[in-house]
Amino acid sequence: MLSGKKIVLGVAGGIAAYKAAELTRALIKEGAQVKVIMTKSAGEFISPLTFQTLSGNMVYTDMFVPTAKYDMAHISLAEFADAFVIAPATGNIIGKIAAGIGDDLLTTTIMASDKPTLICPAMNDKMLANPLVQDNINRLKKYGYVIMDSGYGELACKTQGAGRLPDASAIVEEIETLLTPKDLTGQKILVTAGPTEEPFDPVRFITNSSSGKMGYALARVARRRGAEVTLITGPTDLPLPPCKKVVQIRTAQEMYAAVLEHFKKSTVVIKAAAVADYRPAVLAKEKIKKNNQPFPLMLERNPDIIAQIGKSKGNRILVGFAMETENLLANAREKLHKKKLDFIVANNLREDGAGFQTDTNIITIIDTSGKAESFPKMTKIEAADKILDRIKEAIRRKGKSKK
Ligand code: CTP
Repeated sequence: MLSGKKIVLGVAGGIAAYKAAELTRALIKEGAQVKVIMTKSAGEFISPLTFQTLSGNMVYTDMFVPTAKYDMAHISLAEFADAFVIAPATGNIIGKIAAGIGDDLLTTTIMASDKPTLICPAMNDKMLANPLVQDNINRLKKYGYVIMDSGYGELACKTQGAGRLPDASAIVEEIETLLTPKDLTGQKILVTAGPTEEPFDPVRFITNSSSGKMGYALARVARRRGAEVTLITGPTDLPLPPCKKVVQIRTAQEMYAAVLEHFKKSTVVIKAAAVADYRPAVLAKEKIKKNNQPFPLMLERNPDIIAQIGKSKGNRILVGFAMETENLLANAREKLHKKKLDFIVANNLREDGAGFQTDTNIITIIDTSGKAESFPKMTKIEAADKILDRIKEAIRRKGKSKK
């Protein structure tokens, strides 16, 4: 959430300027206050009225407009902002900022600002690849500007290549990251998420109703807080979070192999996935045809992934989830001990606002001392923050006990 955050959005003159309207909407939806500065050439692509209507604020276009109140816009906007984002950033605006030129309101305001700034380049692929543009981008990085990678795909000039402005949701995620204190830097966090699918013929499988939302929220928030995140995910409908590495698997056995491959390099493992405990014993090569007889489906056990890695967890923090429909705390405590976890996050599927498909959760965190801390209903992003706070605390305690 960007509730109460003040964002100044700079819009430069590229065809992707129209996408900045969508970005303004997305920022407002996240609770941010948005003020927009447009360059003169941005005004050739989209009207200031669009941004004024969407942001609910006047749009700044000119350095030298007399205002009723004496107000130097470039200074007051630099002071107003918690963060700046320039989207789209053209090769021209990137070059001007990199060269220390301030010849319009946007470049002058950026020059007057010491606030975190995200620059989202969007241009033709050849322009982006131009060594001068690349040098300018590297120079901006050197001075602490955060540069978002452009997307790859069809460009306005009908060629395929790098240079697309990323989706509004991806830019919002980068702004969240820009504004989040980095208290998990240096941690390598492995998150598993989503359901697994266990096929018994080429078109059918058994699964569960996990949406992946809790695991994806953990991956996002851990990354925002500076951790290097590897996400191992079963099939979900969610957009992938921008983690260092994402491994997409289907079955519990594939998840097991991926976890074994990555857990040694991790300092923390969070198993939010709803792993199928059983898989069909036989996988038919061809589609099974129906007849009038009952259809027996023999199942065999899948490995208990977290219990297996619990045996050789070393100094790693291991966090599990327990989704229950009855005896929540007793069942969760049993899993905590049996699987050698540092703590377990329990949630009751029967509670309104908790569980698989919802955007909210009601969690209780239980640690090895038996202490249970219950939290009120909150968004999965907020719940992820609470869980990561506990992980940070556990890392601190382990670090102390090693000394
Ligand atoms: N888990 C796992 N591998 C499995 C099953 C579960 O790693 N084959 C992990 C889950 O990711 C979760 C924790 O173990 O972090 C508890 O999962 P849950 O399904 O609640 O418990 P189970 O151990 O499967 O027990 P049961 O289904 O009998 O409640």
